[in-house]
Amino acid sequence: MKYDFTTHLDRTGTGAIKIDLAPEPVKGSGLVPLTIADMEFAVAPDIREAIKTAADRGIYGYTYADGEYKSAVRSWMKRRHGFDADQHKLIVTSGVVPALRYAAMAFTSPDDKILIQPPVYMMFKNAIETSGRQFVESPLINNNGRYQIDFDDFERKASMQDVKLFFLCSPHNPVGRVWTKDELMRLGDICKRTGVVVVADEIHNDLLLNGVEHTVFATLPGMDDITVTCTAVSKTFNLAGLSCSNIFIKNDELAGRFRRVAERAGSGLVPYFARAATIAAYTKAEGWLDELNRTVSANFDYLCSYIEAELPWINVTRAEGTYLAWLDMRSLKLDDKALEDLMIKNGLALDEGYLFGTGGSGFERWNLALPLDILKLALAKLKQAVDSVL
Ligand SMILES: Cc1ncc(COP(=O)(O)O)c(C=O)c1O
Repeated sequence: MKYDFTTHLDRTGTGAIKIDLAPEPVKGSGLVPLTIADMEFAVAPDIREAIKTAADRGIYGYTYADGEYKSAVRSWMKRRHGFDADQHKLIVTSGVVPALRYAAMAFTSPDDKILIQPPVYMMFKNAIETSGRQFVESPLINNNGRYQIDFDDFERKASMQDVKLFFLCSPHNPVGRVWTKDELMRLGDICKRTGVVVVADEIHNDLLLNGVEHTVFATLPGMDDITVTCTAVSKTFNLAGLSCSNIFIKNDELAGRFRRVAERAGSGLVPYFARAATIAAYTKAEGWLDELNRTVSANFDYLCSYIEAELPWINVTRAEGTYLAWLDMRSLKLDDKALEDLMIKNGLALDEGYLFGTGGSGFERWNLALPLDILKLALAKLKQAVDSVL
């Protein structure tokens, strides 16, 4: 291994939400919280070097998406994803969640509804509600730990008069599915037929396990015209604190509407350090990413074998993408509050399944982007917690 995925880094006192706002028993447990999707791995050396060089320049003024920035972003999307980024307008926002809000405001009116597929990243609902819109759910089907789309239900919901927009999570947080071309094409065909615009949140698109391939939704035949594609360096390279995302839109009308809302909200600039970090990430850190994906795949293997051997009553969803494991703890027969209390009492902070909406109750989301020996410690705590209620 060329890069370091084993060192424990102390983030205490840096304002890290996950660490500094952890519940008290977890703070004192000596174990990092396994919540919020950022990583316990140091950022790739080439990116850190680029940030240090940028810092040494001494002036951190207003910066924009200049040619070097755009070229780095576009060529990454072409090289890694076969996405013809030159055909699309590139709009920079301070995050993908803000972009979801701009899309809600730009493409729907207050009486319209936005389709989501729970259990899904909790900020989908939040983005819809804080934009003064409503959501409609087409829940995923849990087939013994493998999640699938209920296409009949999806078509019924997409056909509703007031459904105008669909927030696609691809790869899907928290269930870890990397949707196949066929699944995406079926969703896209329905959206085309029903006139629903698609916001494809592909923030996890580089986090692929065991060689699984991700399809950028807008690369499918006929889909680029109805799609807003959301990407970022934040998940891929552990740069969420730099607040910068890249949104691609081909359709001129959609791009114009989105841009107007984004600009009104103050978007448009690229934060100075995000510019330096993004260029370095997309031009120099590909090798680090490949090693990261191998490390997370190995962590998944470890988690699955441990649970199979020691805690067989927990069912782990085998993710194809993301670094998030989705644990089915329903056999413990605890309500959501009791499950959360049990974990915290045992020093484990996890993201509670019910936060992800319909189908999430009784589950826990577990962040696997961490050194293996921390994972081992966390699993010992999970065993201690579960054993105490059996
Ligand atoms: C699917 C998904 N979208 C968006 C985000 C966050 O995006 P941002 O921090 O760019 O607003 C996350 C973070 O976990 C996520 O999982």
